Amino acid sequence: MILEETKILRVNPDLSGEDDIKKLAFAADVLKKGGLVAFPTETVYGLGANALDEKAVKSIFTAKGRAQDNPLIVHLASASDMNKYAKVDMCEKAQLLMAQMPAPLTVVMPKRSNIPECVTAGLDSVAQRVPQNVVARKLIELSSVPVAAPSANISGKPSPTTAEHVICDMMGKADVIIDGGMCNVGLESTVVSLCKQVPLLLRPGGFTYERLCEILGEVEISQAVLSQLKEGQKPESPGMKYKHYAPDAKVMLVKGKKENVSKLLLEKYLEGNTGIICYDGDIEIYDEKIITVGTRSDNSTYAEKMFDALRKMDKIQGVQCIFALLPEDTKGISLAIYNRMLRAAAFCVIDADEYFKKGE
Ligand code: TXA
Ligand code: MG
Repeated sequence: MILEETKILRVNPDLSGEDDIKKLAFAADVLKKGGLVAFPTETVYGLGANALDEKAVKSIFTAKGRAQDNPLIVHLASASDMNKYAKVDMCEKAQLLMAQMPAPLTVVMPKRSNIPECVTAGLDSVAQRVPQNVVARKLIELSSVPVAAPSANISGKPSPTTAEHVICDMMGKADVIIDGGMCNVGLESTVVSLCKQVPLLLRPGGFTYERLCEILGEVEISQAVLSQLKEGQKPESPGMKYKHYAPDAKVMLVKGKKENVSKLLLEKYLEGNTGIICYDGDIEIYDEKIITVGTRSDNSTYAEKMFDALRKMDKIQGVQCIFALLPEDTKGISLAIYNRMLRAAAFCVIDADEYFKKGE
């Protein structure tokens, strides 16, 4: 840290407050001086440092307890800056994706030599993104540096989607925490690599796979998105090999027909010591241990509330196990929900249809 203690700065999400720009200018100055600033984005809160300052970047890894071989995303105020740090001209498809920015989308391309090795964990590619969130973009613009930022959680924990989550994990570690309200997507950006002939989806997120295919044509999905890596198997994106998004309570996922899922969740709830994450109306009981995440037909609420729900469960006394349902398919945002929840649950899934068939 470069400040003596963590400063929390509240700004309006649309920067309409009188002092909002002044506050961001202060935070931007902290970034320029080598400090750590946590800031809101449309996906999750990020923990930022000047990407060109090696010492500052290294302090991100210390603050999070993050493995050194897991590279960071470089955040920019404008897509036109991407060419400064990546060999954009080497990727035919880059222009198509750059035209979509700002967006909850991160593009991996061959890096230029001005990006320090600690940002990319020694890889010859760099991940870059232009956040949609106006607070994030203004902060980056005022700092006039590229901002390396992972999610602002302690490594392994659910990503932070509110300033309270960040305060919980980063008090005394970040110089500044900017409170700009709740993140509306609620889960991290889509990461796509343009380093090979066929674009490769490394992490699903707010920018859907279907949308990527519309823009790019063929897009491969990395095997690690929906399945567990085998012992010794090397992931295309280093982040995928780590335990992720896990609350302290054990998470179990439930899939199957609506009636069976509801029946199983109710059974588990009645056992006690159990938290439930389900859709509105799945269990008609009011209890803080039952957190609802919208409707089956619109999983954007699930995405938005997912990490918050996992963190809330840990705060409820006595919850040792969380049963969460999985979306009915992996279309749209549901692919990202699947990807995160499978990791939170260490790939533990119960098929409610099978469960009741066996019991007959
Ligand atoms: O929405 C987001 O992307 C948030 C906000 C703060 O912008 N950031 C975020 O960063 O989620 P992080 O560090 O938690 O996740 C970055 C992911 C990791 O899985 C990492 O392995 C991958 O991006 N990544 C970064 N650089 C890469 C590279 N050069 N090649 C392959 N994967 C890379
Ligand atoms: Mg993260």
